[in-house]
Amino acid sequence: MASVAALDRARIGELIEREERRLNERTPASARMFERARSTLTGGVASSYQLHEPWPIYLARGSGQFVWDVDGNRLRDFHNAFGSMVQGHAHPAISRALEERLSLGTHFAAPTEDAIVVAEELARRFGLPRWRYCNSGSEATMDAIRIARGLTGRETVLKIFGSYHGHHDAVMVSIGVAYDEIGDRENLASLPYGAGIPRAVVDLTVAVPFNDADAMERRIERLDAEGRLPACVIMEAAMMNLGVVLPEPGYLEAVREITRRHGIVLIFDEVKTGLAIAAGGATERFGVTPDIVTLAKTLGGGLPAGAIGGTEEAMSAVEDGRVYQVGTYNGNPLAMAAARASLFEVLTPDAYEWLERLNDRLLAGCTTVIERYGLPGYAVGIGAKGCVTFSPQRIVDYESFKAHQDVEVTELAWVYNMNRGIFMTPGREEEWTLSVVHTEEDVDAYIAAFDELAGELTG
Ligand SMILES: Cc1ncc(COP(=O)(O)O)c(C=O)c1O
Repeated sequence: MASVAALDRARIGELIEREERRLNERTPASARMFERARSTLTGGVASSYQLHEPWPIYLARGSGQFVWDVDGNRLRDFHNAFGSMVQGHAHPAISRALEERLSLGTHFAAPTEDAIVVAEELARRFGLPRWRYCNSGSEATMDAIRIARGLTGRETVLKIFGSYHGHHDAVMVSIGVAYDEIGDRENLASLPYGAGIPRAVVDLTVAVPFNDADAMERRIERLDAEGRLPACVIMEAAMMNLGVVLPEPGYLEAVREITRRHGIVLIFDEVKTGLAIAAGGATERFGVTPDIVTLAKTLGGGLPAGAIGGTEEAMSAVEDGRVYQVGTYNGNPLAMAAARASLFEVLTPDAYEWLERLNDRLLAGCTTVIERYGLPGYAVGIGAKGCVTFSPQRIVDYESFKAHQDVEVTELAWVYNMNRGIFMTPGREEEWTLSVVHTEEDVDAYIAAFDELAGELTG
């Protein structure tokens, strides 16, 4: 392996400037659309996660593994709607199911058969017997936490520092904060993520570092001594918003054992991992079954859908009426038709095998580039997901991510990809998501763009 190159910061700055200029030149129609959008759409976008300087790239359509922006640029989609479109765009099986459903009526707020069929399949895949639906990942984690609170009669929520679980108050805590505000590792700070979140709610959520079961147990014991034993631990089994951070061997098993011993509900937030890293998500992949799983993103095949799955005991709080798990659009027939077609016709065992093979090829290709040029970084991934983490050392939690991830190179890689027809998820926290219709050629195009970048960075 080549020795690790010290990167020239001035060179990185020049490359960012050059590539941003190129992207701006390639996207004049997006610039015009932004000018129009910003007078009515706040910030010119539908969600703040779509903001981009100097303007967002507006998309016109998607088909298979490609999307086209309003300037007509065709991009290979590795963003895939923040990991929602593992099926690829406009998949014929999902389109057919939606067309059939359209003429039968699209919403009743009454149960339909598809909702049962989808629940049966999710129960089989995740090994959890009871399910309910909602419309997004945020709703799924909100409901899961309420169920845990209703079940235990406790209020404190334990989460992993740096993990994102959606935009409701209980989980908009201790994510994306400055390194010097994290606090002491044994006593990490509870900090609001943006304005508008009541301090009283923030204080009910306590964060611990990922990949450190002992630190989790010590914090639980201290909270217990303070009369604040948590209702639940909510976590991603593999973190998907520090790039990809895999659990260390034994970590998830230890968390399962600790939560069980303390009578705490364990929630695996599988909004990103579920249906994307294996048929039965992280639960299947790592062989650890929590009390509750939350799903969204890939579940709806492009329609807004979320789900909460749990053990009989966990979901008894809903079954016996203690907790209201409700919503006018829960189990919406269009979303259920798409989910059914997706689960039975698209996300098949063959599809997962293909995703695995493609991801292996992509990870191996990126690793070869890193070694050839001696870049400070490594490729990491699982199932449909992965990334190159630009860091001289392995990231295991938020603290190591903040301390070591090279923000500038990560920013450069995004814009560099965009100019080479690779649509990657923006932001230093994100990863790629492959779809079942991606090909070896797509993956090789990604590797070729990365090779070119590595050459320019070190040349
Ligand atoms: C792990 C995780 N949980 C929950 C959410 C929230 O999902 P949504 O944006 O559908 O509300 C996200 C969104 O990125 C997520 O990554």
